[in-house]
Amino acid sequence: MNEQQRKEMDQVRQKDPKNNLERIKDKSTDEFMKYFETTYQPPNMRDAQRRRKKDVDVHYDFTIPEEMEGVGEDRKYLIRTYGCQMNEHDTEVMAGIFETMGYEPTKQAEEADIILLNTCAIRENAENKVFGEIGHLKSLKRENPDLILGVCGCMAQEEGVVNRILQKHPFIDMIFGTHNIHKIPELLKEAMFSKEMVIDVWSKEGDIIENLPRSRKGKIKAWVNVMYGCDKFCTYCIVPYTRGKERSRLPEDIIQEVRHLAAQGYKEVTLLGQNVNAYGKDLDLDYGLGDLMDDLHKIDIPRVRFTTSHPRDFDDRLIEVLAKGGNMLDHIHLPVQSGSSDVLKIMGRKYSREDYMELVRKIRAAMPDATLTTDIIVGFPNETEEQFQETLSLVEEVGFEAAYTFIFSPRENTPAAKMRDKVSMEEKKERLQRLNALINKQARETMETYENEIVHVLVEGESKNNPDVLAGYTKRNKLVNFVGPESAIGNIVPVRITKAKTWSLDGEMAETTVGVKE
Ligand code: SAH
Ligand code: SF4
Ligand code: F3S
Repeated sequence: MNEQQRKEMDQVRQKDPKNNLERIKDKSTDEFMKYFETTYQPPNMRDAQRRRKKDVDVHYDFTIPEEMEGVGEDRKYLIRTYGCQMNEHDTEVMAGIFETMGYEPTKQAEEADIILLNTCAIRENAENKVFGEIGHLKSLKRENPDLILGVCGCMAQEEGVVNRILQKHPFIDMIFGTHNIHKIPELLKEAMFSKEMVIDVWSKEGDIIENLPRSRKGKIKAWVNVMYGCDKFCTYCIVPYTRGKERSRLPEDIIQEVRHLAAQGYKEVTLLGQNVNAYGKDLDLDYGLGDLMDDLHKIDIPRVRFTTSHPRDFDDRLIEVLAKGGNMLDHIHLPVQSGSSDVLKIMGRKYSREDYMELVRKIRAAMPDATLTTDIIVGFPNETEEQFQETLSLVEEVGFEAAYTFIFSPRENTPAAKMRDKVSMEEKKERLQRLNALINKQARETMETYENEIVHVLVEGESKNNPDVLAGYTKRNKLVNFVGPESAIGNIVPVRITKAKTWSLDGEMAETTVGVKE
């Protein structure tokens, strides 16, 4: 962290002294709970919102500096991506920047002139994978000293990680954060001409650069950022620190991007944000995700998805728009994290089990066939068996058809990482297994209801495991492998389901669209 960054952090902390993390260091669960009820306020949320109106600039003037134009001719780049769709999409932007400079993509590390690791910090094992990979890259650098190695993405935003790289992996040429992607040409220039490691992290978080080039991975489905950052500060989560404060793109920029994708023949867009339901709250427009979806509803693109929803901000307007159908899909990914109101409270999620169930009830009332999927953390510090049982019962009650499940992983400098935890790892693993068994059972039961039904599949290409069959997804995000002609790729076609598995359906292309289940 440089002087400027330290000053910014100090300012935030001074404005909100209650949030001084040191004060809750090493608290027991009871003390933590008390702290939560009486004192805890998420950091800088109000500040972030106030700052937004003054500080966030939207730039439309990205260019490659003259001296970097064509620098990539006869050179190749490789980007390894870890983590969520946000990172996958950032990789598409970085690829766009490299290709604008003349670089070509490669999948072979041995023939790359530049290798970037676009990293994820969400759990410890995500970070360990990256450190393992950094180790492997050392030998490539030894063989080819001109190779440029870079670490970017969420891990680069962590002070501890940057220090560790400086000390243990000095052969890395550049480290840059999630707010600095547009600076790649400059950073690359520095890395090429300097012997020092180039570090550009954090900077002034908050600007939005609109006209960055993108080299999208596919021609059928596309990601579209609607907002950056997160101000929720759930106590276990590192994202608000690695991605900065919430800032929404302007509606017209998003709508124009989706229109453009539709005109290029894309069949599906997924709107991206860490908490998409907060879309627009930082703008002075009185325009939220529901309004945005309503505008996208009018665009001629068959499918519009969004991820990730936060139950707290999921409003009636959005439900009303989703219920209109058409290109609005009735699959909602709605992370719950825990079924226990007490655990939710110390997670800082700001909703109770009852609030969540009420939201589910409203969604089901408007969209009776809606598919709900979720994220769950087991083994939050001191989670009791009873609290875990509440998670199991909520999973059953809601009838989730799929879930991403995780064991709590303490993240540097987050409040939850400072709690003393009495639950053993063995116990946590065992809970994860029980939870997964329940979710697998529910997934399988839902899949079985599709047998002999016809569904509409957006065909993405050959199946990963078997080139003789095609693969694609239904509106409700069920993976379907089926026998059909190559000409179906890129189209939405009817498929009759012949066999249900836990996580996919097998089928064959149908002649008719009568009686489609979706
Ligand atoms: N913005 C999204 C989540 C992004 S992270 C949301 O709020 O839903 C994706 C998932 O990783 C989270 O939903 C949570 O289940 C999990 N996760 C986040 N931090 C974690 C941690 N410290 N340990 C274990 N799982 C975590
Ligand atoms: Fe992390 Fe999601 Fe909570 Fe934001 S809303 S802090 S990204 S879990
Ligand atoms: Fe990981 Fe960053 Fe996404 S921490 S989950 S890559 S926002």
